[in-house]
Amino acid sequence: MLSEINGHTEILGILGDPLSHTLSPFLHNYLADASNRDLCYIPFHVSSEVPGDLEKAVVGAYALGIAGMNVTVPFKSCIIPFLKEIDPTAEKIGAVNTLVRTKDGYKGYNTDVLGMEKDLLVHGISLEKQSVVIIGAGGAARGAAWLSGFCHAKQLLIANRTKEKAESLAEEIGREFPDFRVFGVDLESVTEYMETGGEKYLAIQCTSVGLEPDVKANPVSEKKFYTMLSFAYDVIYRPEKTSFLREAMRAGVPCASGLGMLLRQGVSAYEMWTGEKISEKTVRELRDILRKAV
Ligand code: ATR
Repeated sequence: MLSEINGHTEILGILGDPLSHTLSPFLHNYLADASNRDLCYIPFHVSSEVPGDLEKAVVGAYALGIAGMNVTVPFKSCIIPFLKEIDPTAEKIGAVNTLVRTKDGYKGYNTDVLGMEKDLLVHGISLEKQSVVIIGAGGAARGAAWLSGFCHAKQLLIANRTKEKAESLAEEIGREFPDFRVFGVDLESVTEYMETGGEKYLAIQCTSVGLEPDVKANPVSEKKFYTMLSFAYDVIYRPEKTSFLREAMRAGVPCASGLGMLLRQGVSAYEMWTGEKISEKTVRELRDILRKAV
């Protein structure tokens, strides 16, 4: 409760631009209340247009004693040079979303990828031995591609509007996991490519297409694509049922939005900051409340 802030209250928060739609303050303050912890989580809007402001924000936050922070668009990669340390997995992915205070600076972690893995498991999906198709080749897609490698997926298809970016990400993942079959293709030929193998794919939609307010947009319009899926996952959580997921549902494919990923990345970050374990019961209660909030 804000009226309970006192001289001992731990302050945490989120750095981003824009921040107007973030659910993270709600999520973390809920967890603080649920675990009866003297902690307050607030939004820190940092302009991405003022050169030097991000570095000043990180240095200033440390000097002010901020106990930890989340990082969101567009700073997940460009914040890395201002950290004291980075977790090796986050370094490989090239993006951090969680800063943990250490003796002489912040250490960066990526709990987004862990959040995606945990949420897929909640839906009964393990990436191991799966054929995976990722739509997009930006920051979110990078996390999903690395996760597919870490989890020993069978093969990975990265489909992006700009083919070169898909190819370059596929090359990077292929270098790190030599036994893994990874291909980069353009969005238009993804269906054709999938047809050649005759397998079912787990699809992970990682573009911003379909996000509110442009809810009718869909990166994959070809109906046949959806008939070749075993599961459809969309990292977008607003709306909860994107056009991509609605199309998958029409083809009878089970699916899930990114709400669970948001929830799980947040819970992982909270557990890292506080050393507390959040019960599955609390996680589920929070999920139901978040579902109403989106
Ligand atoms: P994020 O960090 O959220 O992944 P990003 O790095 O800006 O954001 O990446 C956005 C992704 O959405 C990219 O894969 C982008 O495709 P391009 O590489 O061709 O730009 C994809 N994307 C954005 N708008 C799109 C659209 N209208 N149709 C298809 N893909 C789109």
